Amino acid sequence: MADRTHFNPLGPLRGALRPPADKSISHRAGILAAMGEGETDIVGYLNAADTRSTLAAVQAVGARLVEDVATDALERGDGLGAARLRIAGVGLRGARPAAIDVGNAGTLLRLLPGWLAGQPAGKWTLDGDASIRRRPVDRVAVPLREMGAKLAARDDRLPPLEVEGAPLHGITYELPVASAQVKSCLLFAGLLAEGETRVVEPLPTRDHSERMLAAAGAQVRREGDTVVIAPAERLEPGRIVIPADFSSAAFFIVAATIVPGSDLLLHQVGLNPTRTGLLEILRRMGAEKIEITELGEDGGEPIGDIRVGHSELHGCEVGGADVPLAIDELPLVALAACFAEGATTIRDAAELRRKESDRIATVTDALRALGGEVEATEDGMVIEGTGGLRGGAIDSHGDHRIAMLGAVAGAASRDGVEVAGMDAAAVSYPGFEADLGSLLSAGA
Ligand code: S3P
Repeated sequence: MADRTHFNPLGPLRGALRPPADKSISHRAGILAAMGEGETDIVGYLNAADTRSTLAAVQAVGARLVEDVATDALERGDGLGAARLRIAGVGLRGARPAAIDVGNAGTLLRLLPGWLAGQPAGKWTLDGDASIRRRPVDRVAVPLREMGAKLAARDDRLPPLEVEGAPLHGITYELPVASAQVKSCLLFAGLLAEGETRVVEPLPTRDHSERMLAAAGAQVRREGDTVVIAPAERLEPGRIVIPADFSSAAFFIVAATIVPGSDLLLHQVGLNPTRTGLLEILRRMGAEKIEITELGEDGGEPIGDIRVGHSELHGCEVGGADVPLAIDELPLVALAACFAEGATTIRDAAELRRKESDRIATVTDALRALGGEVEATEDGMVIEGTGGLRGGAIDSHGDHRIAMLGAVAGAASRDGVEVAGMDAAAVSYPGFEADLGSLLSAGA
């Protein structure tokens, strides 16, 4: 039986907090530290289930965790937070054979094989939980094989994924869907390939890998819609600083936007423009009370403070280039759309069906169960805004973002929301309930 947690409408959200460290960037930092020569310091590594899977994976292939210091007090002053890690890498060509449990982490499942496929020798198996076993890996297997990699997957497209080290050569690959995971996988493989590797993006996706690889000494450049990487002898990441996760901040950004009287300050959040598409969508919906204070760059990533208050929203059209820039926030766009006036249409987002759950189905079911007027389409949703949600009960389906969506819906609803499976939030945000509670009680 999944746990059941109630989230009640307790009034506005007030106060300030620094959301936990960025999950995407933490995964990459763990993997780059393992690929690196000597020791890498990671400041503010996300301490959550997904990124602990990455830490275990890089240790399984031979990287050594030299130091692991909880920095809750230092980094955030509240809740569960981040760690200061020192990792001794195995070098670009030194990964040890292992059976790797990726847990629930799709990013780890897609990124790591790029590095492993180009090892001089060795065999690896990547497998994970029930959700991971439904997530396609052919999207990385197909281009990696084109580079010379040896891989095998269940039904040729699902985990477990077996990888055997082989000589690779650079290719030009046009991504059939905009995916930062596939792009990053091929860039890692490109470090070990003969000749340059070129990845052509149909639309821009998050560029954390490119930034981090460049900072570690790799030759990576952008030519229009193409990212080009040259083979490398060695990487020296040195020190990697991780900002607060915009995707975690997003739950509070939407909560404050839809709950009247709210006024929130979110500190030191990563503001990489390839991640912040939600802000543009909310502005289009009429959110006027979102103020950004840019605080410069930390570790090659722009950061800033975000102040958010309540706004009346209206429906809008979401699609095309919006989608990869807000891919993990589209469930929240659908929630905000329930509180808007008029219709919102989300298109070109069939990728949502391949996330931790089929998010077109799970978001539609959840919002309908709470009184929302939502229709699923093949590649998105149509939401008829009615100005609010009644409330009711939902199931997270083991998906962290659906669990947290339910909690925010509860805080904004008329009657409250019961979430079954709230524990899934620990995949990316272990202190979420406490943080939401503190912002609600500050507003009471
Ligand atoms: C991620 C890329 C996105 C995103 C996921 C994290 C990454 O996936 O949904 O949560 O860290 O590269 P896709 O590359 O499959 O779009």
